[in-house]
Amino acid sequence: MHSLMYVSSVRGEFTPADLEELTTQAARKNARREITGMLAYNGKSFMQLLEGNQAQIEALVEKIGKDKRHRDLIVIRRREIETRECPDWTMRSFVVPMERAGDAVRLSVSLPDDFEFDTRLLFTSFGSMVRQTSGGSAS
Ligand SMILES: Cc1cc2nc3c(=O)[nH]c(=O)nc-3n(C[C@H](O)[C@H](O)[C@H](O)COP(=O)(O)O)c2cc1C
Repeated sequence: MHSLMYVSSVRGEFTPADLEELTTQAARKNARREITGMLAYNGKSFMQLLEGNQAQIEALVEKIGKDKRHRDLIVIRRREIETRECPDWTMRSFVVPMERAGDAVRLSVSLPDDFEFDTRLLFTSFGSMVRQTSGGSAS
């Protein structure tokens, strides 16, 4: 079984409600292809974990890469796995950033126990990133 993670940059306006709608549709389609995973959004970037049959994952990530809602999709990890890290989610999504005290801890605790160390590290650090820096951002 194949596992792939990518990051990408949102294009234009994309709200938590948009994320919910995207996730509902994605979950329905993923179920048909036996794809599972997780999607995080921080108002600026996405991080997604996809796992399943390799050909299905490759076809999906190519399709996702062409989606106009984001740009600059970069695959950050690709590997063969014995068992799924997200067996129960045809797609689970959540919004970060962690703005209030305790948010990052809540995210970290909500990640499945069977997550590998580096998967946990990637999502936790993504979720802990500060969205805006003083003096404006370069987007
Ligand atoms: C950040 C992001 C993540 C997405 N994740 C998935 C996904 O896991 N599964 C999926 O089928 N589509 C996902 N999509 C949507 C696809 O890009 C595409 O719109 C959808 O698969 C179109 O399906 P169709 O060709 O059957 O109409 C995602 C889109 C974005 C922007």
